[in-house]
Amino acid sequence: MDKFYITTPIYYINDVPHIGHTCTTLAADIIARLHRQLGEEVFFLTGTDEHGEKVAEAAQKEGLSPQEFCDKIAPRFEEAWKNLNISNDFFIRTTDKRHEKVVSELLQKIYDGGDVYKGKYEGWYCTGCEAFKTDKELVDGHCPLHPPEKTVQKSEENWFFKLSKYVPKITELIENDKTNYIFPDSKKSEILAKLKAGVTDISITREKVKWGIPAPWDTNHTIYVWIDALINYYSATRIVEGKTEFWPADLHLLGKEILWFHTVIWQAMLLSAKIELPKRTYTHSFYMIDGQKMSKSQGNVIGPQHLIDLFGVDGARYLVARSFPSENDSDVGISRFKEKYNAYLANNLGNLVSRVCKLGEGLKTQSTPTPSFDKEGSKNFVNLIDQLKLDEAIGWVFENFVDSSNNLLNQVTPWKLEPDDPKRIEVLTECAANLKKAAYYLQSIMPDISKKISELFDEEIKPLESGLFPRIA
Ligand code: MSP
Repeated sequence: MDKFYITTPIYYINDVPHIGHTCTTLAADIIARLHRQLGEEVFFLTGTDEHGEKVAEAAQKEGLSPQEFCDKIAPRFEEAWKNLNISNDFFIRTTDKRHEKVVSELLQKIYDGGDVYKGKYEGWYCTGCEAFKTDKELVDGHCPLHPPEKTVQKSEENWFFKLSKYVPKITELIENDKTNYIFPDSKKSEILAKLKAGVTDISITREKVKWGIPAPWDTNHTIYVWIDALINYYSATRIVEGKTEFWPADLHLLGKEILWFHTVIWQAMLLSAKIELPKRTYTHSFYMIDGQKMSKSQGNVIGPQHLIDLFGVDGARYLVARSFPSENDSDVGISRFKEKYNAYLANNLGNLVSRVCKLGEGLKTQSTPTPSFDKEGSKNFVNLIDQLKLDEAIGWVFENFVDSSNNLLNQVTPWKLEPDDPKRIEVLTECAANLKKAAYYLQSIMPDISKKISELFDEEIKPLESGLFPRIA
């Protein structure tokens, strides 16, 4: 059986889950479910990033120890994903002792290989990103992604990793289409340009940050939080029983702001430790909320539970997937979600199901073909999902099976025909077959509703007790 290993970034524990995190986790879930549906053995990983300066600060603000703070917040992520019917096989926490052990071993290997040396870091650090910043990366003297006070001067003795040594190898891998692992293509050009512009070695330990994993060769230092975090993808395959074979990962999903870490630093660390590289990274863009960056200070953060309360689990999943920010940023907001929900789900799919059930109750459907992923068009659907073109993939299903059935009903108007009129039977049977197909394709996107639709049209058309998507005001 083919194996497929997919990951999301592990989210910082100082925040609560919002729709930014949700879109990556949901996209990974859709891909994971689709690969299971294709008969592959899937390992789907998500989790939380719990060390570092900003988590320690957040804990202090709440009067808790960092560990107590993490233990309080991590379950909120786990619960959010459970409520959204996310099918992750494991939830990794970087404070898990087993992860810490793998981090120490891997770094010791890098150290033993001669790729680590002591140096002095003098420059900027953004605690929001937990990242060192060059002057060029600052706008008006601070990191553009976070409030100005998060960018501070640092001067500390650190251990450095010889990142620059790996630049020729990484460039060669990316430039060769057979070994390139960066998708979409626009991101590949971005990284190649940055690699050509010159790369310096990076600090991989922090002297003054206590909340972290001690560097195995110098316990006065802790491992820089990003180095610790990236290793989660590998450590999970060592922690969870029977998953060793899943390394190298097939797909790392991530947002655009963490591209460099996932396509250069991570690869260099693995090359140094002589571990196979992940096969593909896929980077998506960002959600904007009503034209603005989502942030606590703007008060425009949307949480996944809010969407579930308004639209139900599968409604929320559909809306997030349909507005997924693939290559470009995607502007969303509650009023737009409501419009889409009513247009696509209540008035279109929901209405179709209820019309076909009402008009066709009792009609036999055994003769309609069982859907499968072998047909040409369906390969297109799988490819679109694999390339994170979720909106296009769902649009394809709606156009071919939902809109076309609604059009057919409106043309033939079976409600004006006698129940035994062959034309009426024919059109309703065809709509039932289309709905079975739609449900088959939408399984990974709306697992419960799809199951319900398949059952409604299995063997014969059954009565619908209550509407699938009640209209909302
Ligand atoms: N902890 C690091 C990742 C370490 S992975 C080894 C981190 N965490 S985070 O909590 O800031 O999450 C960042 C990720 O959340 C982004 O890469 C993206 O997947 C998702 N999003 C956060 N905000 C987002 C939007 N506004 N829109 C879409 N996704 C975004 O970085």
